[in-house]
Amino acid sequence: MTTEIVRWGILGTGNIARKFASGLLALPERCRLVAVGSRTRAAAEGFVRAHAPAARAHPSYQALLDDPEVEVVYISLLNHLHAEWAVRAARAGKHVLCEKPATMTAHELEQVLAAARAAQVFFMEGFLYRCHPRWAQLQALLAAGEIGELRLLHASFCFDGGHQPAGRLLDRAQGGGALMDVGCYALSWLRGLAGAEPLATSCQARLAATGVDESACGTLLFPGGVIASFTTSVRWPAPTSASIIGSSGRIEVSEPFRCTPGVAAMALYRGDALVRTMTVEDDGLTRYAREALEVVDHLHQLQSPAMSWDDSLGQARTLDALRHQAGVWWLDEGRERAIPR
Ligand SMILES: NC(=O)c1ccc[n+]([C@@H]2O[C@H](COP(=O)([O-])OP(=O)(O)OC[C@H]3O[C@@H](n4cnc5c(N)ncnc54)[C@H](OP(=O)(O)O)[C@@H]3O)[C@@H](O)[C@H]2O)c1
Repeated sequence: MTTEIVRWGILGTGNIARKFASGLLALPERCRLVAVGSRTRAAAEGFVRAHAPAARAHPSYQALLDDPEVEVVYISLLNHLHAEWAVRAARAGKHVLCEKPATMTAHELEQVLAAARAAQVFFMEGFLYRCHPRWAQLQALLAAGEIGELRLLHASFCFDGGHQPAGRLLDRAQGGGALMDVGCYALSWLRGLAGAEPLATSCQARLAATGVDESACGTLLFPGGVIASFTTSVRWPAPTSASIIGSSGRIEVSEPFRCTPGVAAMALYRGDALVRTMTVEDDGLTRYAREALEVVDHLHQLQSPAMSWDDSLGQARTLDALRHQAGVWWLDEGRERAIPR
């Protein structure tokens, strides 16, 4: 673990970049946001003025990668740009935290990881909930046998993002679709708790006119006969929740992905009897600050146990399978392209 102050750069000036910047600013003893890169000088300067007053504004993504002060790059770009900029960042010798889903396909992720390995830089796919202590708490409950042997898992992540065919949620060219946007959370949660890759998957979807899944349901069969299901949507609002069913009890999880203090809770049942409820303590750290800490704490190990390289690869391969079963194919899929130099 490093105790030095790690110098960060952010690629992109959108919604999640703003939130992550505030997470970095909350950790002055561990992190410093030194630069922001955007497609336009105006957006970079506007972002710096509003959210990162001590940072430099770069008028291109490459200019940020060329900034020698930047040690770690947070990639907050749209899904279809993750692979290219993660590879470019690694080749520039920068550590990388990349927004979920890491890439459009497993093939792209293999190229990203090869670049990170060659450059000996850190890489992590950012799933905020994996960096929250509740994830470890949940795994500890299972390991302690609180619900017996794991049998059945379910996770749901649905919201109504509106009908904007050209927006990032529904546009195929930008890597849209429910599976890519929020279904990937449910999938990573199920795979993480099962502790293995699925032996078989199935997926049914309702496709938007743009060719991506606006909603999807899927099933997974894991080794040992553990079965799992998920529902996901970017067009239907529905409670985001999850459950874990074992041979002697079950855990109901509210807000499994946002982990909001005061709202998120886990309830442990044996039969129909509530044994206890566990809530998330508010220690003042945001999810974004926790994620940044996870990165700086594991920088020299090149990967984090919160989301290891193998975990991301298993995730990407399963996401590919589910997406194809849902009937969603990228425009250039099958014509494998190398990330340009
Ligand atoms: N972890 C989470 O909780 C969470 C939540 C939401 C989203 N995400 C992920 O974060 C990523 C960004 O999502 P977001 O909600 O921040 O999106 P957003 O607000 O639309 O921002 C995306 C950024 O990508 C850049 N970009 C590059 N080419 C673009 C194009 N052709 N059109 C529009 N923007 C373009 C833009 O930065 P410049 O203009 O500065 O170049 C833009 O600000 C996605 O991968 C998403 O899955 C994660």
